Amino acid sequence: MKGIILAGGRGMRLHPITRGVSKQLLPVYDKPMIFHPVTTLMLAGIRDILIICMPDSLDAYRRLLGDGKDWGMNFDYAVQPEAKGLAEAYIIGANYVGDEPSALALGDNMFYGAGLRGDLERAGQHTTGAQVFAFQVQNPSEFGIVEIDASNRAISIEEKPQKPRSNWAVTGLYFYDSDVVEIARSVKPSARGELEITSVNEAYLKAGRLQVNKLARGTAWLDAGTFDGLIQASQFVQTIEKRQGHKVACPEEVAWRCGFIDNAQLERLADGYRNEYGAYLRGVLGMPSD
Ligand code: TTP
Repeated sequence: MKGIILAGGRGMRLHPITRGVSKQLLPVYDKPMIFHPVTTLMLAGIRDILIICMPDSLDAYRRLLGDGKDWGMNFDYAVQPEAKGLAEAYIIGANYVGDEPSALALGDNMFYGAGLRGDLERAGQHTTGAQVFAFQVQNPSEFGIVEIDASNRAISIEEKPQKPRSNWAVTGLYFYDSDVVEIARSVKPSARGELEITSVNEAYLKAGRLQVNKLARGTAWLDAGTFDGLIQASQFVQTIEKRQGHKVACPEEVAWRCGFIDNAQLERLADGYRNEYGAYLRGVLGMPSD
């Protein structure tokens, strides 16, 4: 299975911060935001990831993530010159995905919680139809909302509905079979001029092939795309890390726990840091595995 991370976008809600730097490079406490979608896909067992960003931030992403080999990963890069919508990921990434199933993760969505790894692993083995992850929210009219039947199949999806049919919001993590490229190619721009991922999901829904993975209430889903969202995400990560002593979204640790790298490689990565992040990585080797 292939992975795609969308790290482009205008980031207008975070202007002026994101006038000079791509949103997904901004810090969420002790790590760049993009470590979150990277580790989410790694936990789904995905080792090949295409990172899509604006042309002017390509060098920065390459500098940060490289080719991925240090983490037992393969990173490739592509550019999206304009923010033409999430579904464009599958037009830009068509050759990359080929005829394999794939997962799309939005660069500013963060997930954390017990049981998530199991959900992600199951989704990573899913090869037919589409699967979205949904989270219960208090203010459904601000989200894309999915209505779900007893077997967790989607019945309807509506963007920011006035009269929501459920309070399950569609999050920024999608798993698709190989039909997604053709479906994305057939999507027409919406009223706001974007190729909407909702249109792709609707095509699967109409075919009765859209499954919903309900995230348990103990899971946190954060979108770091606003001023408050960004600081709340940082505070959340800081709180968990200080309380538990475990880092959230640490790619080196995830790579080691998933068996992508061995002890010696984790030690080498730890040696590359001269701060508490490196000390943490050294400590991971002595931690009980979960
Ligand atoms: P959004 O948060 O919807 O858009 P944005 O990041 O441009 O921010 P704003 O609304 O403040 O202008 O995007 C969700 C994620 O998808 C985010 O990580 C950026 C990314 N994205 C792209 O990479 N390409 C796109 O064309 C769009 C619309 C978003």
